[in-house]
Amino acid sequence: MPVESKKRITESKPIETVMFEHMHGNVLGSGQREPRISWVYRQELYEDKVAGAQIRIRRAKPGEETREEIIGVDYRGNHLHAWPVEPLESHERTSVAVRLVDDKGQASAWSDEVSLETGILEAGDRLGAMVGPGWYESTTDWRHAPLMRKEFELKAKPASARLYLTAYGLVEAEINGRKVGSDILTPGWTSYDDRLLYWTYDVTDYLQNKGNALGLWLGDGWYRGRLGFRGGKVNIYGDRLGAYAQLNVTYADGSEDVIVTNAYDKTWKAHKGPIVSSGLCEGEEYDARLEEQGWSEPGFDDANWEPVAELPLDVDKLTEPIAPAVREIDRHRPVSIQQHGAHAYLIDMGVNCTQRLRFKIHGFNVGQSFTVQHAEVLEDGELATAPLRRGHQIDRYTSNGEDTFWEPRFTIHGFRYALVEGWPSDLEPDDVVAIAYGSDLERTGWLETSDERVNQLHDNIVRSMNSNFVSIPTDCPQRDERLGWTGDIALFAPTAAMLFDVEGFLSSWLHDLNVETDKFGSVPYYVPYFPLGEWQTPKVQALAIWGDSAVLVPWAIYMDSGDKVMLGKQYNLVVKWIEEVSGYLSPDGVWDRRPGIVYGQLGDWLDPTAPPDDMAKALTAKELVATAYFARSARLASKMASDLGLVQYQDKYAELADHVKDGFISRFVGEDGLMTSDTQCAYALAIHFGLLDDHSDLKKFAGRRLAQLVRDRDYTVGTGFAGTPYILPALTETGHLEEAYRLFLSDKCPSWLYQVSMGATTTWERWDSMLPNGKVNSGVGMTSFNHYALGSVAEWMYSTLGGLVMSSPGWHRFKIAPKPWGPIKDAHVVHKTALGTIDLTWKYKADEGKLFIDAAIPEGSSALVEVGEYSDCIHAGMHHLVYEYKS
Ligand code: BGC
Repeated sequence: MPVESKKRITESKPIETVMFEHMHGNVLGSGQREPRISWVYRQELYEDKVAGAQIRIRRAKPGEETREEIIGVDYRGNHLHAWPVEPLESHERTSVAVRLVDDKGQASAWSDEVSLETGILEAGDRLGAMVGPGWYESTTDWRHAPLMRKEFELKAKPASARLYLTAYGLVEAEINGRKVGSDILTPGWTSYDDRLLYWTYDVTDYLQNKGNALGLWLGDGWYRGRLGFRGGKVNIYGDRLGAYAQLNVTYADGSEDVIVTNAYDKTWKAHKGPIVSSGLCEGEEYDARLEEQGWSEPGFDDANWEPVAELPLDVDKLTEPIAPAVREIDRHRPVSIQQHGAHAYLIDMGVNCTQRLRFKIHGFNVGQSFTVQHAEVLEDGELATAPLRRGHQIDRYTSNGEDTFWEPRFTIHGFRYALVEGWPSDLEPDDVVAIAYGSDLERTGWLETSDERVNQLHDNIVRSMNSNFVSIPTDCPQRDERLGWTGDIALFAPTAAMLFDVEGFLSSWLHDLNVETDKFGSVPYYVPYFPLGEWQTPKVQALAIWGDSAVLVPWAIYMDSGDKVMLGKQYNLVVKWIEEVSGYLSPDGVWDRRPGIVYGQLGDWLDPTAPPDDMAKALTAKELVATAYFARSARLASKMASDLGLVQYQDKYAELADHVKDGFISRFVGEDGLMTSDTQCAYALAIHFGLLDDHSDLKKFAGRRLAQLVRDRDYTVGTGFAGTPYILPALTETGHLEEAYRLFLSDKCPSWLYQVSMGATTTWERWDSMLPNGKVNSGVGMTSFNHYALGSVAEWMYSTLGGLVMSSPGWHRFKIAPKPWGPIKDAHVVHKTALGTIDLTWKYKADEGKLFIDAAIPEGSSALVEVGEYSDCIHAGMHHLVYEYKS
């Protein structure tokens, strides 16, 4: 936290953190030859004048001497500073530290160093082959998962060693009996036909002089496992599993060895392992009787193992990740275990999320099995498994009679409750723990108020995000779906960017969005895309919102990070989308052409007034929703062009946005202001997308009408996916704060707090995924208890309730504008921006008629404090402000 007494620069350590690109901490296996450098200042006041900053870059290739360079830079260039020296080469290691210099040339202490090492950047140095088992396998489900192994000798204990690893399928490595790293579901899901991520591990400490062994577990995963609804599909990318491993070893004398997967020298062997079958959605079956002790250690007898076979691989497709791996992010202990029949136990883990159970296996006889079935909720005291559809989430373990720990390896479940059947003794709390997994993102947003229900909602939003940010942004983590639905993230991206640093994660996914758009002719419904069920059309059809992800996702991450380089990279995708849809507009600018899929446009998807068995029948006209979103996208495309200095697009898309807006008004807004769809969604979009900004009378009317509709529904939500992010902002910006708060704080169904009042620990797909009578909403078998889309309300929670409003990309400028109302009398919000941490607390004391604000503003940004009629500009540092205020 900031301090207010002055310090000498020479006696301080002014830099809090240093990072490369959007990767937090040390980076291994980077693909960036010129990684940008950012650093964040501690909030301190100095006696002396800061004159500049220095970046110290140390770099060395394996076995080479370290070189050092110190570069003087403008200290205000601390955000994504261009790499200031020669580009890095393959396998090069660099560490960077930063310090400040005063006007007399005296320097502060160096910051802590942060390091980055490049991967195998030259395709010619990718020396391995993709190899897999050579035996005949069926080409459909329930295939026995293989193990592969190799033994090798090293001439000494290495000075450094790196394992580069990827797979067709999923892979986990063991060296000398020890699991490498803590990642799961490696290599993650990308559009595999375009790129396959390889991950880098520091395995120096795993290796020894002389005999060593490298073992690989393989599983079906996304590559060939069954994916998707309506029965799903297998072998989407191929029907043979394989792994690529390359172990680069450097000895103290600078000499090197490279050990790689290959089929030609017959040193790699494969065998069927204890995982009898494994599917991401189905679950995993493990037979410990098939374990072979010491299989990943040297000296193991693999005489009955078979040689591996080589699979085709284009080494150019191996790509370095820019997002964190999937890892453990939390752990939960059971809150209750109840006997549920003979040898059967129902476990409640307390929270619903993406997790797996780890069991302490004891007291089992050889061949004795137990099964675990997982579900999100209970119905009439039993696991509610119907919503899972084909995604059964059943694991099965068969014992070899030994006591051990077991957790499945290549499956992942969305659940809170589990039914264990066949446990031989009393199942004790110590016998089981749930490990929650997700992409290991850096948390950047926190919000707390005195209303516990609101805090619970915020926790639920975070948990649903974590549950669905698993390698790609998915719709849900439990049923047979778990796809990268583009519309869901289009709406949730601003919230995601507030809660976690998602720039690397979403940029990685946007890469695939771009690739799939080129391949399939429009922005797909989900990415990675493969044709499935009713979403199987000769050409992907342009769908509003889902396709608008091409604009809304880059915009959301750009707004939070201010990263123009990233925006520039995404801009051709933006252009593709805008140009394509422009061709579908009617002459008046309305997008009313029906896309050629069963539902047509999805409109205000899951509007609570739509019949549960026909969720596409929302009240708001679909062409209204599509046109509003397109007007918004065209406007943002113009703004992006302006920030990127692309004048021709700036003007062209501003005109387009005006044209679409005019069409919207003449088609959907009556002269009296009443809209053709007299719905919460219609007014919310018209207001929040600025479509009525040139007509203040229409805008005022729209605000009043929206407030009336909210009152008419007795403060319950009437919007689906499309209108939900904007209904509270639209009410707030048209001066209907009371309706906004009353709607937000209502716990009548449908509303956000209704879910909380029903004991939710995540945000649900439908407002009433669980009905007030405790029954699961059975609407066409599509009911999840873990969708992030409706959590998009968090954007409003931070800005209105928290009072923290972003005004310019990257938080260089923002507003502090708390809006106390009713029971909401205080809030504490924190957001770690690229410039540093904003820490804001406000408290309204009605009896004193005063509003108290404590705010920490990071270096490089400034805030406009707006309270009632007061408006003050404040700069970096800690501020304690008091305003006269009447709520
Ligand atoms: C998904 C949604 C998705 C929708 C599109 C659903 O099955 O779960 O979140 O956006 O389909 O129709």
